[in-house]
Amino acid sequence: MAPERSAGDRIGAEDIRRRKGGVPIVCLTAYTYPIARMLDPHVDLLLVGDSVAMVLHGHATTLGASLEMMIAHGQAVMRGSTKACVVVDMPAGSYEASVAEAVASARRIVEETACQAVKLEGGVDMAAQIAAIVAEGIPVMGHIGLQPQSVEKDGGYKIKGRTQENIAALFRDAEAVEKAGAFSVVIEGTVATVASDITRHVAIPTIGIGASGDCDGQILVIDDMIGMTVDRVPKFVKEYAKLRDTISDAAARYAAEVRGRAFPGPDHVFSATSDKDKA
Ligand code: KIV
Repeated sequence: MAPERSAGDRIGAEDIRRRKGGVPIVCLTAYTYPIARMLDPHVDLLLVGDSVAMVLHGHATTLGASLEMMIAHGQAVMRGSTKACVVVDMPAGSYEASVAEAVASARRIVEETACQAVKLEGGVDMAAQIAAIVAEGIPVMGHIGLQPQSVEKDGGYKIKGRTQENIAALFRDAEAVEKAGAFSVVIEGTVATVASDITRHVAIPTIGIGASGDCDGQILVIDDMIGMTVDRVPKFVKEYAKLRDTISDAAARYAAEVRGRAFPGPDHVFSATSDKDKA
């Protein structure tokens, strides 16, 4: 059954909020125009994640993302999509210091990309920022559990929800994000039963990544999902294609044909008598 949509071409944040407990919400990250075009017919939500810093720009962590980077990729994804709800990540350093900074950064992202919403990491500690951005009329997606922007502080990518103390903190974070007015919340890298319990506990949709099949939706990093990741592939990733092998094979065949003067052949050059003027 096709999920309900409100008037207008794009799925909005409120459409996503209404999907709580319904047909699972399909989300993927996207960073570029062609990928957005390919994914748009299949997904409900495209996240321009700050993972772009690692995936496309080769940084070691998401801390390499800047506001300018997020805006440029947000614009590309908006150009390549017509249907999906597009959410742009707020990069580290653009919102944590003050509510005023958070509102200014969120406004800039929305004004320069025309995206539907922003996402930021944090629970109780970022509730004031979320509430202030929502009060400006900008929908916010929360992000709790494993928070990649805190990975240096945390000493690595550590799974959350393994102790009673941490489980209680996760519930406080989920409640704070919901109370602050977020329309949904990503739960990342969290013990499955805990993510399931949080999903039942809050009234906003939870979007899982390395969390639980009970979440209201799922998200994966697109390059992980299509098998483009060249470094370690996390346990929670399922590769639906192996494009790294396809690309490597294409490059090897191209190299062999160029070196053997098999490419370009007659089909790929222009003769003096050709009636075609366009490449
Ligand atoms: O930046 C990102 O890709 C994300 C997802 C992993 C949720 O935040």
